[in-house]
Amino acid sequence: MYDFAPDPDLPAAERYRQLTSAADALTSGEPDGVANMANIAALLWEFLPQLNWAGFYRMIDGELVLGPFAGRPACIRIPVGKGVCGAAAQSAQTQLVADVHTFPGHIACDSASRSELVVPVTRDGAVIAVIDLDSPEPARFDADDAAGVEALAALLSTRI
Ligand code: SME
Repeated sequence: MYDFAPDPDLPAAERYRQLTSAADALTSGEPDGVANMANIAALLWEFLPQLNWAGFYRMIDGELVLGPFAGRPACIRIPVGKGVCGAAAQSAQTQLVADVHTFPGHIACDSASRSELVVPVTRDGAVIAVIDLDSPEPARFDADDAAGVEALAALLSTRI
């Protein structure tokens, strides 16, 4: 049994430290990227409050394709450069969006989403996937969230 339930009162930095440590334990030695992404999506969902979507889009033949996630069914294919995920993939930079309604080209998979954090996962300098978090709360994500998910993305570089 995996029991990674976080303490709800943890400060963000410690919450992400525990999340990344759990992610390391779950994916260490497992070569199947789909299995690893599925477990990480479940961990993100379990560790982070106020989410309505947490998961992966993978770079396949030059476009983003839906990967393992937790939450409601979502858009399957996203062109590089489109929406928040496409911007993260194109720029290889984290996208922290406090109000998705103000982001040009935001793709509304769920009309309840109000804020979003997308972090690229890179390997050998290329974007291989993005981690996407959505929240129904405006401005749900801050610099601590970005740093925490970037640490997770670094860990996953060779595991997905
Ligand atoms: N909102 C994203 C699309 C993916 S869903 O939120 C799961 C975007 O604009 O790229």
